[in-house]
Amino acid sequence: MYAERITKLTPGNFPKRVFFGNSGTESVECALKAVRWHSPGKPYIIGFVPGFHGRTFGSLALTTTKLTARRRFFPFMGGAVHVPFPNTYRCPFKGLEGEECIDAVLSYIEDFLFKHVVPPDEVAGLIIEPILGAGGIVPAPERFLHELRRMSRDYGFYMIIDEVQTGFGRTGKMFAIEHYGVEPDVITMSKAAANGLPFGPCVAKAELLEWDPDAHENTLGANPIVVSAALAVLDVMEEEKLPERAAKLGEYFMKRLSELQQKYEEIGDVRGKGLMIGVEFVKSKDTKEPNKKLRNKVIDEVFKRGLIILGAGTSALRIQPPLVVKEEHIDTAVEILEEAIRAAKG
Ligand SMILES: Cc1ncc(COP(=O)(O)O)c(C=O)c1O
Repeated sequence: MYAERITKLTPGNFPKRVFFGNSGTESVECALKAVRWHSPGKPYIIGFVPGFHGRTFGSLALTTTKLTARRRFFPFMGGAVHVPFPNTYRCPFKGLEGEECIDAVLSYIEDFLFKHVVPPDEVAGLIIEPILGAGGIVPAPERFLHELRRMSRDYGFYMIIDEVQTGFGRTGKMFAIEHYGVEPDVITMSKAAANGLPFGPCVAKAELLEWDPDAHENTLGANPIVVSAALAVLDVMEEEKLPERAAKLGEYFMKRLSELQQKYEEIGDVRGKGLMIGVEFVKSKDTKEPNKKLRNKVIDEVFKRGLIILGAGTSALRIQPPLVVKEEHIDTAVEILEEAIRAAKG
């Protein structure tokens, strides 16, 4: 019953199947193994830096947020290839902005990687977060995801979208990839899927999860307790229209944060979708030099005032309140954040 419902909610009007994992990393492992299994002779899988996909040896091979997650664990799964994520605010190719940054990354893949390093016919798939989570709340540019989809068709590899963090209404749609109009071959999920209980479904084109019996299994996946919770999540999301609510309140939150950005030289960027918002601290708006010290102080100062905000990426705040947050909570949070910025600046 859950498989029936979730396959209808994910983009793509084609037959799908579901593997029931117990966590985000397990959902990602399933996705990686499925594309490998169906791509004999194609060992490579492309990931984007700084992406986060989990901490087991397959997903960790594609996790590049912090060296501390990787140090002392090599060798990971072989075949991982790393490409910079086109962060158009702070382009990995220095000096470039906006569309030029996207072009530079696309050209890096097709003119450099695929011509000198990795034969594209040996690529099994790519994995990307539609919005970088741990990497700093950075939405992927729309054109970029469409180009990746085009490449996956042109060169014949699979596209995995990691919605472990962005899924289930967080970004104002049930799945963030719906903002882009791209239909991936696999979507990985977890976190909100069972509202905190351990659950990590991997939803894929049916052919991808048709493999030898015993090729991939687990013991506790699809246990009745978590699946009941996951079904209840879908009911509540629909009844209370939580994705629509996240879109509306996210817009309000973003507007309030943009007002702070106008006021403070140290807020370089406010970005995101729905209730997944990044606020980037810089030394000055002109240089965009990351201001990690101030960001960390702000985290301490908001905590002293009863508000928990985590950091993400080098110098961003990660704002991801519960989807049932109310406008007045947002007003209080913005007030506390402003006080904290003033206190942190000293
Ligand atoms: C995008 C993404 N993928 C995968 C994972 C791994 O999930 P888990 O911690 O449940 O293994 C996370 C966790 O933060 C994540 O944000």
